[in-house]
Amino acid sequence: MYRDKFSNITEGYTFDDVLILPMKTGVEPKNVDVSSRLSRRINVKVPIVSSPMDTVTEEAMAIAMARYGAFGIIHRNQPREKEVEMVRRVKREETIIIRDVYTVSPETPIEVARTIMKTKNIAGLPVLKEEKLVGILTKRDLEFAKQGSTVSDVMVKNVITAPENVDLEDAINILHKNRIEKLPLVDKDNHLVGLITAKDIITRQRFPDATRDDEGQLMVGAAVGPFDLDRAIELERAGADLIVVDTAHADNENVLSSIKRMRKEISVDIVAGNIATAGAAEDLISCEVDGLRVGIGPGSICTTRIVAGVGVPQLTAISEVAEVAKEYGIPVIADGGIRYSGDIVKAIAAGADSVMLGSMLAGTEESPGQEMIINGRKYKAYRGMGSIGALSTGISDRYSKLGNGFIAEGVEGAVPYRGRVDEVLFQLVGGLRTGMGYVGAENIGKLKERARFVRISSNGLRESHPHDIRLISEPPNYQISNY
Ligand code: XMP
Repeated sequence: MYRDKFSNITEGYTFDDVLILPMKTGVEPKNVDVSSRLSRRINVKVPIVSSPMDTVTEEAMAIAMARYGAFGIIHRNQPREKEVEMVRRVKREETIIIRDVYTVSPETPIEVARTIMKTKNIAGLPVLKEEKLVGILTKRDLEFAKQGSTVSDVMVKNVITAPENVDLEDAINILHKNRIEKLPLVDKDNHLVGLITAKDIITRQRFPDATRDDEGQLMVGAAVGPFDLDRAIELERAGADLIVVDTAHADNENVLSSIKRMRKEISVDIVAGNIATAGAAEDLISCEVDGLRVGIGPGSICTTRIVAGVGVPQLTAISEVAEVAKEYGIPVIADGGIRYSGDIVKAIAAGADSVMLGSMLAGTEESPGQEMIINGRKYKAYRGMGSIGALSTGISDRYSKLGNGFIAEGVEGAVPYRGRVDEVLFQLVGGLRTGMGYVGAENIGKLKERARFVRISSNGLRESHPHDIRLISEPPNYQISNY
């Protein structure tokens, strides 16, 4: 029995154990399509997700990720109201049609209208009388308004409007032709039903690949603990497009039954994890989740494998889970251990549909981590959610608490400052495209299907990195002197 444990032992592979074989290609990197599935109903133009960690994803990160076609998941190491508010702020950041429009009546004193515009940071207010649109008031109208006057004295009465079902192209034309900033939408009885602004359209055109919902709002995910149904419900109400059940070990009977309960209450997609085996994939899929998050211990800040002796090298874990997931059409997120763009290509070649990043995004402008200077170089704080620092501020149900003490499964540290998220994503997507070119894969599906691995030795790995040269500068996609 004990000897068998070793005679039947399986081998596990991770990023540095393999390379992808080059293949005959007719595919140019600039022409490949890197769009992919994040969960059953969510597609992304860029298959990269920011991890729900308190030094990685708050609203600034989620907004940046969504704008560049990727996806952010707000962390849960904070009071429920704060997480809910962050989701709301991401959803409010951009929209095609504003539905909850601020309005005034013709009798509203000018001073009141001025205050509304100032406090809400808006440049125009539709004017309603008995719910019907009778005018529009812009900042310009206020400039020469006499003291003591009311909105009806200065508003523009001949308002240019559009019907409620106007399509975006027509709306843009109307705004453009009439040189106006705001286009109120009205129903057949002239009731105001929405507002399109030139500012929102310009923002939208600046980010053509953004991950948006049907209303044109940026999409965002939010993490919840496995037993926190109330939080999940509130996050969904606030507009979260994806709920991520965030636990270190999802293949746990209590967690599985809790996910089943959550499934009944939550209608947006649910991603659950983390897992690393085929059996765990079957168990989660039987709870009707819409995506699987794979990775037990590969993360840069993880000590699970060292503390608990448990884990599966990440490429093997991805392939085990993906083998099951493909039977059910459920997307797989490869979470943790990614240090270079080549690792993203390998993760997808092993069966993932997208990758989740912690350390590679923690050093960006948009992460919430604190900045610091170490030996003259700029860093940002980055810590594991199972580190003592994170555990003592709240998230103790992701990792173990035995008696009075925490059993940490992560460390705290800092990562080099890396500039803006879009600069990092540009390099990562560029590397992914290059890899796809070498394999002859014109899209993510083809990369998963065609790519083959070659096992490499430690000499092969050494040969892969720059060698026999003293590096005097760092390219933006290769850091050797990280720490
Ligand atoms: P990277 O390598 O991108 O990994 O920094 C991020 C992922 O690591 C996981 N994570 C942890 N795992 N102990 C762990 O064992 C921890 O304290 C911890 N904190 C985060 C998580 O899956 C994240 O996305």
